[in-house]
Amino acid sequence: MVTLPDGEQVPALGLGSWGLGENPARRRDEIASVRLGVELGMTLVDTAEMYGEGLTEQFLGEALAGLRDRVFLVSKVYPHHASRKGVVRACEQSLRRLGTSHLDLYLLHWRGGEPLAETVAGFESLRAAGKIRHWGVSNFDTGDLEELFALPQGQRCAVNQVLYNLSRRGPEFDLLPWMEGRGVPLMAYSPLEQAHLDQGGALAEIAARHGVTCWQAALAWVLRRPGTMAIPKAARPEHVRANHAARDLHLAEPDLARLDAQFAPPRRKRPLEML
Ligand SMILES: NC(=O)c1ccc[n+]([C@@H]2O[C@H](COP(=O)([O-])OP(=O)(O)OC[C@H]3O[C@@H](n4cnc5c(N)ncnc54)[C@H](OP(=O)(O)O)[C@@H]3O)[C@@H](O)[C@H]2O)c1
Repeated sequence: MVTLPDGEQVPALGLGSWGLGENPARRRDEIASVRLGVELGMTLVDTAEMYGEGLTEQFLGEALAGLRDRVFLVSKVYPHHASRKGVVRACEQSLRRLGTSHLDLYLLHWRGGEPLAETVAGFESLRAAGKIRHWGVSNFDTGDLEELFALPQGQRCAVNQVLYNLSRRGPEFDLLPWMEGRGVPLMAYSPLEQAHLDQGGALAEIAARHGVTCWQAALAWVLRRPGTMAIPKAARPEHVRANHAARDLHLAEPDLARLDAQFAPPRRKRPLEML
């Protein structure tokens, strides 16, 4: 579990949804995957108004029927909807598509042209109205968080969702320490680099040593840090089961050193990457 700044506990391992609900031929498998993940306890579910331009939220409304109360549901607002009033409108549309009365966490998808103070005011009015329980940001680098935290109520930011996996270790240099210092958890997106990590070398060795797949080893590596959540997307039930099992895999010091040798940690500031 990961602790939010207000003390609430959220599962460290959840489910991504980018691309789900867009292909009728895959719908049955996708619904089975989401429901299996929730049954297994991966009850943190991430989506966004952007995914399929609303189709993914609609899909999740259907996939989570009867399970909503067990889920910590996260959605995101487009930056161009993130004015004080726009964020409220966008949230209400997301709620309708998801068939729910509230979101557990609402994120600004990335930083755009709207002043941050306006977005925060919109988030706070949604919170006061009970339509969201927490709010946060995504794709914010250290300087963006510093600006946010200097605003009235900016410190209510509960999470920063960023690209973080073995091949994207830039946040370790200063972003992660900054967030850890303030108790803001990182939610790692694309923790498997969309299944494009180099599967040879260190990952293959470690996977063989532990009797797991390289994807399970890569996921366990993201989850090794306390205060870090991961939201792998899996449209196939067998992938959901494998990801769930990765929760119990603990990488030892020699494993971590071998991974550091191939996927080097950052030695200087790298601007935050995004997909
Ligand atoms: N905030 C942002 O800007 C942002 C950006 C990108 C993503 N996200 C969020 O983060 C979530 C995850 O990122 P992602 O979807 O980009 O990529 P990802 O989770 O790193 O990778 C997804 C890919 O990995 C495959 N996979 C999953 N588990 C596997 C396993 N155990 N073994 C082998 N292959 C496996 C999936 O296959 P199948 O689907 O065929 O099972 C899919 O092709 C997204 O779905 C979205 O919710 C947020």
